Amino acid sequence: DWNMPDYVEEAIGRIRARVGGDKVILGLSGGVDSSVAAALIHRAIGDQLVCVFVDNGLLRLNEAKQTMETFSRNLAVNVIYVDASRQFLEQLKGITDPEQKRRTIGREFVEIFQQEAAKIENVKWLAQGTIYPDVIESAGSHTKKSGLIKSHHNVGGLPETLRLKLLEPLRELFKDEVRELGLALGLPRDLVFRHPFPGPGLGVRILGEVKYEYTELLRQADAIFIEELRNAGWYEKTSQAFAVFLPIKSVGVMGDNRSYEYVIALRAVQTEDFMTAQWAELPYTLLARISNRIINEIRGINRVVYDISGKPPATIEWE
Ligand code: XMP
Repeated sequence: DWNMPDYVEEAIGRIRARVGGDKVILGLSGGVDSSVAAALIHRAIGDQLVCVFVDNGLLRLNEAKQTMETFSRNLAVNVIYVDASRQFLEQLKGITDPEQKRRTIGREFVEIFQQEAAKIENVKWLAQGTIYPDVIESAGSHTKKSGLIKSHHNVGGLPETLRLKLLEPLRELFKDEVRELGLALGLPRDLVFRHPFPGPGLGVRILGEVKYEYTELLRQADAIFIEELRNAGWYEKTSQAFAVFLPIKSVGVMGDNRSYEYVIALRAVQTEDFMTAQWAELPYTLLARISNRIINEIRGINRVVYDISGKPPATIEWE
């Protein structure tokens, strides 16, 4: 039997006892797990926690701003904001292979995080939002047991290179417990019930080479899609929904002229465990509204398609 206020008090006590007067560093991503870990550790040790938020240029619209607002302004957490978007895009230039993109983004993140960690005195701990399913997953054989065919461990190797002790206060919790804890700690509902977002971000939602122009188009399309899903009450009914940028051009008409622009694919799935998934049967009227808005509001997009592939054989992400 699980009592949240008691759990919070216990968890705070455990963190204080382990950490003592040391400093703790945490990579804040804006996702549920790192956010709840940050809020909990902050509750326990206040300014001994230093968070680092790395803007890799592959985030969703307003994501950096919202995260900074929630943590820095509202919760008074010490967050260092690093705008590394140019650096990431520079490193990604010319790379088209999905796994190579993942490795590049992961490596770049580790490098930047390390630089920031080196600037803080007395850091002894690296905090991570590892939850129980992550623990099980990395204990088993990756490809066979979980059916994982993409490399997901974006920041693997961080503790070793930094020579820090690991602090993982969510290690024994399931996702729904992490969410409950997040609410108890005063995190906004929207954040706590957010769909998962991959570490490499929009980097794996732009097919092939990543370019700044593509990230801007995709950010706008994705924001329209999510806004309309929320308005229609469909965000909560889907497990994950997002736009994908296809770097191919097709012909359309705009007024009296012919247009030749890029394509956006929409993906919305329902799943329990993300190992298998069904495409969501979104209402046609909703799809029509989303498509009209994307095409009318975004210059550079003249066609929208809806992904009707299940997993398997398709994966949830396009890369
Ligand atoms: P797939 O595309 O393999 O995705 O069906 C299953 C779930 O994993 C997420 N995903 C990732 N998460 N780094 C992550 O942190 C990654 O490289 C990555 N690739 C896929 C995906 O968003 C879905 O929730």
